Amino acid sequence: MKFLVKDEHPVRHLCQVLVVGCFEDGDQEPFFNLLDEELGGYLAALFSRKEFTGGLNKVKLLQTVGRIAPESILLMGLGKRGELTAEKVRQASGSAIQSLRMPGIESFSALLPEGVENLSSALEGFALGGYSFDCYKTKPDEQKEIQEVTILSSGRFDPGEPEKTIADAAALCDAVCFARDLVSQPGNVATPSYLAEKALEISGKYGLTCTVWEREEMERHSMEGILAVARGSHQPPRFISLEYRSEEAEGKPVVLIGKGITFDSGGISLKPREGMEKMKTDMAGAAAVIGTLMAVAALKLPVHLVGLIPAAENLPGGSAFRPGDIIRSMSGQTVEIVNTDAEGRLLLCDALHYALRYDPAAMIDLATLTGACVVALGGFATALLGNDEKLKCDLKKVGEATGERVWELPLWEEYGELMKSDIADLKNSGGPSAGTISAAWFLQNFVGKSCWAHLDIAGTAWEEKGRHYLPKGATGTGVRLLVGYLKNSVKK
Ligand code: BES
Ligand code: MN
Ligand code: ZN
Repeated sequence: MKFLVKDEHPVRHLCQVLVVGCFEDGDQEPFFNLLDEELGGYLAALFSRKEFTGGLNKVKLLQTVGRIAPESILLMGLGKRGELTAEKVRQASGSAIQSLRMPGIESFSALLPEGVENLSSALEGFALGGYSFDCYKTKPDEQKEIQEVTILSSGRFDPGEPEKTIADAAALCDAVCFARDLVSQPGNVATPSYLAEKALEISGKYGLTCTVWEREEMERHSMEGILAVARGSHQPPRFISLEYRSEEAEGKPVVLIGKGITFDSGGISLKPREGMEKMKTDMAGAAAVIGTLMAVAALKLPVHLVGLIPAAENLPGGSAFRPGDIIRSMSGQTVEIVNTDAEGRLLLCDALHYALRYDPAAMIDLATLTGACVVALGGFATALLGNDEKLKCDLKKVGEATGERVWELPLWEEYGELMKSDIADLKNSGGPSAGTISAAWFLQNFVGKSCWAHLDIAGTAWEEKGRHYLPKGATGTGVRLLVGYLKNSVKK
């Protein structure tokens, strides 16, 4: 999607659709009244008749029948003026662009409430809400993707300001959409080696350092957790590291770790058939990590960032690991496998242990780790667990600001009981109760004294219905949250 800024008068601006931001309490922007005058008070009448209220995420498309240059107007409800937030602008813009998905509309223009903050949020809403994954549709779609959005500035910006805002928002949204594409790709395409290829591609394009380990190197490093999970599939595992280091970066790196199960059948502890196709999304953590490195490099943030991705496929082949097996993780701790479907933590425990060699300032892992998380929070929040109050607090704050909300679950000592094994140091599943917490408890055994947070994105990685700027399908969750976190971490 291409963004342009023009300083034309809205009444004389030629376009197919003019999106006009409106408030619920009737206190409209000056441009609204300008347009309304030309339309003979039609807009105000719609409000007084309550045909359109300006409520958040409400839209109404009107034909202008030649009275003004725009062929039509899309009223975009922003809710009450006094309650406007970045997230509301993002949502309203997402709802607006999704309502314009109809044959024949390939571009539109927009009038937004004042301020660069609003501009930046609207661009995010448009870019993310306009996304679709259609590379496997072989018949040309009548309803084309919207290619171009023009923002009418009405001289309300400083010189260069909108251009910089556009470049930054586009870089961030490109990374989110890149992550969405990866998650949407099916398991027969997005294999562990495909993830590695994509990481290499990105590293070349954005000047990152990328290292890919194959099975032999993982064997040499005793990454038995990853290797055990990978054994049931013909797809060989990969251990991918990506590194971005700005010259201005100070101090220790932040390390991100993303679960990269390219398809999770459950292994020998096979999943039920219903909905198993969704398990192609079990690498959404990996996608978020690659996307975050991409964005951070494009935005040239003054940070030192490392991304680690253990990637494997969990299938029940003849060499598959089995319930009852005991494996020795890279850290030396032994794990009794009681359920081969609790595979994510086995990848992550090696990656977390490996991360310790960076002596990280903070490490954050992202994983579609537990079905229990979907039960607890649904698609509206990512579960947050960790051992550092400051880190958790920072993530919560940035979650509110970005709309990628996180909700903390406790990691009390008592939950550790669930993961004790009779014959090994740990078992890999604590059974059905407190599934998200016991999984995090398992991970905590591998982070040493590091400052660590775990994000369970099982519910938020995939949007079931489609809403505002999250079209049905992969959300790319984690990218905007982590980029926001990293931006804030350098401000202080
Ligand atoms: N990838 C799944 C978790 C998942 C479930 C993600 C639904 C997205 C949607 C994970 O590997 C898994 O199977 N977890 C098990 C753990 C259990 C066996 C302890 C689960 O949640 O059932
Ligand atoms: Mn599983
Ligand atoms: Zn899984």
